Amino acid sequence: MKFSRIVGTGGFLPEKVVSNADLEKLVDTTDEWIADRTGIRKRHVAADGETTCDLAEVAANSAIDSAGIKNRDIDLIVVATTTPDKVFPSTACLLQQRLDIHGTPAFDVQAVCTGFIYALSVADKFIKTGSAKCALVIGAETLSRIIDWTDRRTCVLFGDGAGAVILKESDTPGVLSTHLHADGQFEELLHVPKGISQGYDAVQNGEAYIQMEGKEVFKMAVNTLGRIVDETLAANGLAESDIDWLIPHQANTRIIAATAKKLKMSMDRVILTVSEHGNTSAASVPLALDVAVRDGRVKQGDMLLLEAFGGGFTWGSALVKY
Ligand code: COA
Repeated sequence: MKFSRIVGTGGFLPEKVVSNADLEKLVDTTDEWIADRTGIRKRHVAADGETTCDLAEVAANSAIDSAGIKNRDIDLIVVATTTPDKVFPSTACLLQQRLDIHGTPAFDVQAVCTGFIYALSVADKFIKTGSAKCALVIGAETLSRIIDWTDRRTCVLFGDGAGAVILKESDTPGVLSTHLHADGQFEELLHVPKGISQGYDAVQNGEAYIQMEGKEVFKMAVNTLGRIVDETLAANGLAESDIDWLIPHQANTRIIAATAKKLKMSMDRVILTVSEHGNTSAASVPLALDVAVRDGRVKQGDMLLLEAFGGGFTWGSALVKY
């Protein structure tokens, strides 16, 4: 039986920072409101011309370095993104070119904020079935490009970034389980209403921005993440106390706190980075993992519960022995 194991992590946030105070100058909001309701203090925004693939490349190189592998060892690239550089080729193919890797499968996965969990699950299955031995799995976004910076209900929430892992074949278990779900009936609660197949005019007319029913999304996220925690623990025959670290999608401190409560976990066993970069969609879980690995909180052998919820709706979890 083959397993997959995370052997390296990387992350990158673009240099430009937009603080809550900066947003006070753009829309009718306050630092206090944003911090109280979301836990967010600042977000990073890609510079003009800086693309999702640019962010992904830095995160990828950092993960490759930390894994101590060579680019040529990688035989699968999966990029989770909702904000690709081009309609095609995929961001994964653009990245493959930059990394001077040739011939390996490379493709994007689009599951919005759950994207990284989807990508990890796909790569895990490639490895478990013997179709790959060493995968580069990335979540990368420039959500700032699909934000209406005059809409205070959404612009305070999101930011840009990229996180990456190297997933390698192993004789011992690393990724213990993944659970993926989606329910398209909630399309209108969180969406960008226009896309390419509706014509470039619609996109150029400023209609291609995130729209969200915040309260409804909040309730759905809390309930759904509670259910996926139960599903993950039951599938693995584990109790809440078996989890060393919760590494959640970083959307909102209050949503994360509700999931931690469900796990009967104190917040000091939760990796919380949302205050530093807001909701970076598919990048948020690998970014948080990278922070916790680098600062020494997550150690080899720790049991990690990764989870996310996002547009679609999509939601999922990964139970990982690090
Ligand atoms: N600054 C100040 N006031 C704001 C504001 C802002 N940035 N955004 C909204 N408000 C106002 C609203 O207009 C409303 O005013 P009203 O009562 O006069 O109508 C008031 O604040 C309360 O708004 P409400 O939407 O009820 O607030 P909330 O407590 O639900 O918090 C969110 C709003 C968006 C922070 C919260 O609903 C949330 O986090 N939802 C989930 C979002 C999310 O994580 N999405 C991504 C999932 S992957």
